[in-house]
Amino acid sequence: MSQTRLLRMGMIGGGQGAFIGAVHRTAACLDHGVVFAAGCLSSTPERAMESGRLLGLPASRTYPTWQAMLEGESKLPAGERIDFVSIVTPNHVHHAPALAFTNAGFHVVCDKPLVHTSAQAEELRRAVAAKGTVFAVTYNYSGYPMVKHARHLVHTSTLGEVRKVVVEYNQGWLASRLEASGQKQADWRTDPARSGMGGAIGDIGSHAEQLASYITGLELAEICADLTTFVPGRQLDDDAAVLLRFRGGAKGVLMASQVEIGRENDLRIRVHGSKGTLAWRQEEPNHLVVIPEGGPEQVLRRGNAGLCDAAKAGTRLPPGHPEAFLEAFANVYNNACHAMRAGVGGIEAATRFDFPGVIDGARGVRFIERVVESARSDRKWTAV
Ligand SMILES: NC(=O)c1ccc[n+]([C@@H]2O[C@H](COP(=O)([O-])OP(=O)(O)OC[C@H]3O[C@@H](n4cnc5c(N)ncnc54)[C@H](O)[C@@H]3O)[C@@H](O)[C@H]2O)c1
Repeated sequence: MSQTRLLRMGMIGGGQGAFIGAVHRTAACLDHGVVFAAGCLSSTPERAMESGRLLGLPASRTYPTWQAMLEGESKLPAGERIDFVSIVTPNHVHHAPALAFTNAGFHVVCDKPLVHTSAQAEELRRAVAAKGTVFAVTYNYSGYPMVKHARHLVHTSTLGEVRKVVVEYNQGWLASRLEASGQKQADWRTDPARSGMGGAIGDIGSHAEQLASYITGLELAEICADLTTFVPGRQLDDDAAVLLRFRGGAKGVLMASQVEIGRENDLRIRVHGSKGTLAWRQEEPNHLVVIPEGGPEQVLRRGNAGLCDAAKAGTRLPPGHPEAFLEAFANVYNNACHAMRAGVGGIEAATRFDFPGVIDGARGVRFIERVVESARSDRKWTAV
């Protein structure tokens, strides 16, 4: 395959009224390497067809169900059918299409949390290994250039040995019972049948877990979790506090909340090593604070000289012109698309091309399961 070949993207979910689907379409196509070619965009056939029409898809490439899309696209000649499908449905509609498209030989980009259970994640892992396809999970925060540089600083031992990681993702939008109003995104996120066993811990805690793992490379050994449902009548946690013990002796704290009034998308991380500290916040993503022992505090900025190659590769604009959520999301797509164009798939592709893959997705699912298990067993330390 040519390195410059345009890839054709299909999408499941992301229709009228949806949140993240539009972000995926924008991000995938940001650098002109992808065209949006087909979709089954909504949960009912009528809305799915209307959503496709509103987005300008040809009727022949708009499908009433994802199963019809799989069948229709599979029948097209290789030069016309989609190269990959992006799955941007609520969590309970991840596993079946991800498995079916992978088994049919399509590359897959799936949003997080990957699936509901570790057994489902393992099924996907085996399918990806067997088919040798590319499988990306959109843990988009690892696409930020300054997050990539933070990872570089840890991996080049600039901070020394990592001792402590403090990671938080706090929001306030579910501080009252928004789901009772029928608000679409609140409705499924607070329903265990559609969201999975985690509330805030699954929806945003899983991002925090992946961010800590991506930057530090540390593996969790044990966790001790306290989950709370503050809003009466809600079925899933809306607040989580988790103590972390990593293999090798480092420790940490992870917090995730959707009831912290005033917080918007306050994802932040601090990594404390034996020689220094780094700190990053997603609401100011172009800055990375580094404090060597004895100081002084340094603020590294996206686009400046001296950043690692991965940070440079994920940067489009000169410093001072802010880049943010969409560009970081596009960086995840770009790296997955490089792997597709290079014809490199399977389990190793994610590490080699620097994008979150099925292994990261599976680790996230296991983390959610163990957190819930710990919380239910009266906050027992639980092996991960
Ligand atoms: N990476 C991120 O930063 C991020 C941010 C938000 C959401 N997400 C994840 O993205 C996914 C979607 O979240 P959202 O907030 O956009 O949800 P949403 O409710 O806004 O949109 C879901 C879309 O999926 C469609 N859908 C549902 N069932 C379908 C089916 N069987 N076939 C086709 N379409 C179907 C719905 O009609 C809707 O268009 C979730 O897994 C969520 O966790 C990730």
